[in-house]
Amino acid sequence: MMGLHFSVFIELLSLLLLLSPLIVLATTDPSDVQALGVLFGSLNNAPQLTGWKSSGDPCGESWKGVSCEGSAVIAVQLPGVGLSGTLGYLLSDLLSLRTLDLSNNNIHDTIPYQLPPNLTYLNFASNNFSGNLPFSISTMASLTYLNASHNSLSQSIGDIFQNLQSLSELDVSFNNLAGNLPDSFSSLSNLSSLFLQNNQLTGPVNVLSNLDLTNLNIANNHFDGWIPQEFESIPNLMLGGNSFNSGPAPPPPPYMSPPSSGVHNHNHTGSSANPPHGQDSQASHQNHDNDKKKLAIGPIIGISLGSILVALCALLFFINFHKIFSRVKMKKSVILRILWDLFLLEQIKVLFSFQ
Ligand SMILES: *[C@@H]1O[C@H](CO)[C@@H](O)[C@H](O)[C@H]1NC(C)=O
Ligand SMILES: *[C@@H]1O[C@H](CO)[C@@H](O)[C@H](O)[C@H]1NC(C)=O
Ligand SMILES: *[C@@H]1O[C@H](CO)[C@@H](O)[C@H](O)[C@H]1NC(C)=O
Ligand SMILES: *[C@@H]1O[C@H](CO)[C@@H](O)[C@H](O)[C@H]1NC(C)=O
Ligand SMILES: *[C@@H]1O[C@H](CO)[C@@H](O)[C@H](O)[C@H]1NC(C)=O
Repeated sequence: MMGLHFSVFIELLSLLLLLSPLIVLATTDPSDVQALGVLFGSLNNAPQLTGWKSSGDPCGESWKGVSCEGSAVIAVQLPGVGLSGTLGYLLSDLLSLRTLDLSNNNIHDTIPYQLPPNLTYLNFASNNFSGNLPFSISTMASLTYLNASHNSLSQSIGDIFQNLQSLSELDVSFNNLAGNLPDSFSSLSNLSSLFLQNNQLTGPVNVLSNLDLTNLNIANNHFDGWIPQEFESIPNLMLGGNSFNSGPAPPPPPYMSPPSSGVHNHNHTGSSANPPHGQDSQASHQNHDNDKKKLAIGPIIGISLGSILVALCALLFFINFHKIFSRVKMKKSVILRILWDLFLLEQIKVLFSFQ
């Protein structure tokens, strides 16, 4: 009897051991499962997404294009598999996702605001996305690659690049993006490739002048102003099809050096070393204001120099008078009275000479 019970126990134990891999693997993070389920539905339950279900175990089963690390979904790579539909609303629940490649499909509607927050690689190129780049991209500090080229994006590019210090490749070419380049482009300190060609972008491109770029293509837009000198050092540069001013950058604005260096001590090294390269309205505005200040300061310096001269004269006068009158025994108050009268006379003369 004992022997029989024991063998049944062994039987059950080995069954459990056999099943255990399945039990262990069936632990895909529930929020990842739910997020992929919603994505599957938004992509019209596309049959080419083999293995996908509205729920299940993406890491345990083999869902096409899904990669995991432990129980976490870290990559969804589905380029060129003929997907249509939209991206749904739950991508932001894919907290461990680092790679999202849905390029070369026919997904439409706007790029959702809710993107996976920890992506390093995001490729939406060659779909039918409309609208704009969502502002949530501004919080994706780990992003190194962003490709949204060949879509129908429109409107102006938001000021979304302030915190994207990892971004090294940005491609939004072949869209209908319009407006001026936002200032935060200048914060993309690790950017080496920038593709903005074939959009409707306008204004100057000076915000790009301090980037350390290897590839820059801004061709076929409506950019204007002067081409920054710094662009000369970019190995692969494409500028054609814009409205840039031709010829050299204009000379620096006329500079009136003040007669006395101690009075007006602004630092002009920067502006005289780098003449404005374009119609950067802000920069030229500032230069204009500085010129106005310089012009106004001229007469002021003249007047103060005049006063100094008068004071010097008065001082010399006083010293001489003192010498002369010290011999003569005269009351100090009388000397001071004479000096004061002379000083007033001098001031009146100075005032009239300015009329
Ligand atoms: C991903 O982002 C979320 C919120 O943005 C954060 O709490 C989490 O720690 C990140 N996860 C990883 C694996 O980086
Ligand atoms: C972005 O995607 C397009 C279309 O697939 C491709 O031609 C282009 O080379 C990509 N850009 C970068 C910077 O990889
Ligand atoms: C792109 O999407 C729009 C609707 O947003 C649709 O009218 C158009 O036909 C789509 N284009 C392609 C090439 O699928
Ligand atoms: C900058 O980009 C390079 C690759 O071009 C990468 O190796 C490096 O880690 C990046 N730096 C930061 C701060 O992300
Ligand atoms: C003057 O400006 C230049 C360039 O803008 C800078 O390198 C230098 O340190 C500045 N000097 C002073 C005294 O602020």
